[in-house]
Amino acid sequence: MVKKLFIALFLPLLLVLLATKTDTSNTQIRTKEQLGKKLFFDPILSSDQSISCASCHNPKFAFADTVAFSKGVGNNITTRNVPTVMNVLYREVYFWDGRAKTLEEQAIFPIENPVEMNLKIEDAVARLNASTEYVQLFKKILHSKPSKNNLAEVLAAYEKTLETSATPFDKFAKGDSAAISESAKRGQLVFNFQGHCFDCHFGPDFTGDEFKNIGLYNEKELVDAGRYNHTKLESDKGKFKVPGLRNVALTAPYMHNGMFRTLREVIDYYSTPSKFVQNAINVDSITANGFNLTEQEKQDLEAFLLALTDSSFTK
Ligand code: HEC
Ligand code: HEC
Repeated sequence: MVKKLFIALFLPLLLVLLATKTDTSNTQIRTKEQLGKKLFFDPILSSDQSISCASCHNPKFAFADTVAFSKGVGNNITTRNVPTVMNVLYREVYFWDGRAKTLEEQAIFPIENPVEMNLKIEDAVARLNASTEYVQLFKKILHSKPSKNNLAEVLAAYEKTLETSATPFDKFAKGDSAAISESAKRGQLVFNFQGHCFDCHFGPDFTGDEFKNIGLYNEKELVDAGRYNHTKLESDKGKFKVPGLRNVALTAPYMHNGMFRTLREVIDYYSTPSKFVQNAINVDSITANGFNLTEQEKQDLEAFLLALTDSSFTK
């Protein structure tokens, strides 16, 4: 009797509960951020539906990629190295040359870029409007149909959630002196003083969002003029947006062209730039002659950079 009652009443209930628990469908998507996340990982925004934002901004590598230049649709390759999209909330400009002023504005570029997703924004919006699933989600969350503006809005909203705060360095800064090694502590001093890194990589995310030329432009083998392409000011030749350094250990290779494979190479470059690049043009006087760091200083500086890693996002 009791057994029958259980089967009659509780079993159906249990099944319903189990079904809702394993239901990963859209009932769980309730916020702009969650909708933005779904779109960030959905190849629907690329012309041949093969590439999503996450194809290049891979969460495993702090939302960057592991190659100097990444593949977009049709095996085309990007002209610059993929930057992380973590810790972008407080940036003042976007792209290596700063050509986008907001994350919302930025989000449209990769969709239309012929070597990235190669889809006219009107076509992207039409595609979303042809999907019952997306029409319902946009209606539920934004109370309107998918549009260029609300597509940009939700992608940006998701990106703004990708903030790093739990690094060993953050714990150290809050008073846990055991959170980073002695070497990393010495490295912080090298970063601030002997290495002058802090002159450009300052603030909570280790960038002041300025444009600087550290010597990776010589109009020979290094031809990307960076900020100049956007402003056409002679004085901007070879300047790039100073990248933040949170999670930098996960985002190799480095620089706008991915020319350095390891952090050690980056440090060797800053120490003796002339060993890597000849006849650089318009170089910032701070970095021009190199910092001539000792082996110990280099190791300590690398230990410090490694302490800026928050792996909690990488899944
Ligand atoms: C094919 C690879 C690729 C795809 C796909 C891609 N990106 Fe990017 N992303 C890049 C590259 C390369 C850059 C740097 C380009 C530059 O600075 O000129 C970049 C830069 C960015 C930046 C600027 C970060 C900063 O700090 O300046 C953001 C934000 C961004 N992408 C978001 C997105 C979003 C959102 C999508 C999907 C709609 C997307 N990306 C799709 C390669 C890609
Ligand atoms: C004059 C300003 C300036 C100084 C000083 C400086 N940097 Fe940079 N840093 C930049 C700029 C600008 C870039 C991007 C350059 C490019 O791609 O051409 C950069 C790039 C980097 C990158 C690559 C990040 C990435 O995501 O690709 C690392 C790592 C780095 N710097 C660390 C350091 C360290 C360590 C020091 C001190 C030894 C230092 N920087 C000193 C301006 C500076």
